[in-house]
Amino acid sequence: MDSPAVPIREVRVERVLARSSGVPELDRVLGGGLVPGAAVLLAGEPGVGKSTLLLEVAAQTARSGVRTLYLTGEESAAQVRLRADRTGAVQDELFLAAETDLGAVLTHIHDVAPQLLVVDSVQTISAGDVEGVPGGVTQVKEVAAALTRVAKTRNIATVLVGHVTKDGSVAGPRVLEHLVDVVLHFEGERSSRLRMVRALKNRFGPIDEVGCFDLSGDGISAVTDPAGLFVARHHTAVPGTCVSVTLDGRRPILAEVQALVTPSAAERPRRTTAGVDAARIAMTLAVLQQRVGMRLHTHDVFVSTVGGARIIEPAGDLAAAVAIASAWKNREVPTDMVAIGELGLAGELRRVRDLPQRLAEAARLGFRSAVVPGEPGRPGGMVREVDGMQVVGVPDIDSALRALDLAKADATALLRPDRAAPQRPVLGLV
Ligand SMILES: Nc1ncnc2c1ncn2[C@@H]1O[C@H](COP(=O)(O)OP(=O)(O)OP(=O)(O)O)[C@@H](O)[C@H]1O
Ligand SMILES: [Mg+2]
Repeated sequence: MDSPAVPIREVRVERVLARSSGVPELDRVLGGGLVPGAAVLLAGEPGVGKSTLLLEVAAQTARSGVRTLYLTGEESAAQVRLRADRTGAVQDELFLAAETDLGAVLTHIHDVAPQLLVVDSVQTISAGDVEGVPGGVTQVKEVAAALTRVAKTRNIATVLVGHVTKDGSVAGPRVLEHLVDVVLHFEGERSSRLRMVRALKNRFGPIDEVGCFDLSGDGISAVTDPAGLFVARHHTAVPGTCVSVTLDGRRPILAEVQALVTPSAAERPRRTTAGVDAARIAMTLAVLQQRVGMRLHTHDVFVSTVGGARIIEPAGDLAAAVAIASAWKNREVPTDMVAIGELGLAGELRRVRDLPQRLAEAARLGFRSAVVPGEPGRPGGMVREVDGMQVVGVPDIDSALRALDLAKADATALLRPDRAAPQRPVLGLV
């Protein structure tokens, strides 16, 4: 027995106080910082910038006088030194070793006695006395277990890099998830410099925060004003667009819906969609026609998302309906607004799952107002403040359109476009 059970009041708590990783944008995702003795898994696709980010964390931590050991099994020490020169990460307290054998890794940890350990990557380290190839399930589990054990006993904050492929089939992060305290996902498109870090699991904090970074030749830096980054420069406010927040698994993603409504010359008007569910759009059009009185049956309707985004969940209904109504009325909605909600056949708006996370993401990305399903007993809408955003809760599509000044009659609009702010934050158009 390592230590006897003690009354909870007597448990010492200084061990779980987080220390800044030196990268505030990452601290935000971690829920404070790196906790001594805790193991963090940073998973991401090849080339996304994992080594660059962790070298920055290591350098910033070392700069504050905390001894840091960066172990690489992927590159030579010289390669890492070159990157450090390029990104300005050369620090006295930063120790570097290129190593692939677990025994040697443990020796380095013993010799250097770091307070922060980075292992890049867990798939490249192999344990000599365990069967299986390096990177295989057995090896990866054993290596990760040994490293988390050392982290716990020596009270070292440990960050492990884990590779994932597009199909997630390679042994790694999935089998490691229960071994570590925090799982971070590092994502970004190759075509853009924008990188995002999200927590998929966190024993020390919430998982609804996202860290935004800019990856360039000079290294990685925090994007302190993400809203500015998501501006679609090719247009200012135009009628027929509305932004929604969809959920990809647990991850909220902002996506813009665009609609165009034109008088039809055809006997059967066209309904063309891209990136949205055609059946849901057909239903939305029927609801708008029947419940709100828009005579759309004489018009061609085109609905699409921007940048290849896919909005297939019902929570995207309201944004599609607002975009169509905005196109129909030829009147724009506020550029910094999101609309989230499922539309029912009676025109009622239904609640969607994880609304707080969606709103938090929208607020985080610079959006200032939202239209969401409200309480059924409160017709006309109700405004409250969430995460610094003006959130309008409406019971049905008619109230939603009234709130946006898109309804037929004498509406009292709760949200009007701010014509002085023509910029629209949009994800994925960087
Ligand atoms: N010499 C360089 N000059 C400018 N940019 C570079 C240079 N070397 C790398 N980069 C950029 O940094 C990006 C991230 O590289 P990094 O090695 O940090 O990614 P990684 O996730 O660790 O990759 P891997 O899975 O291969 O370990 C590269 O995709 C590239 O765009
Ligand atoms: Mg790397």
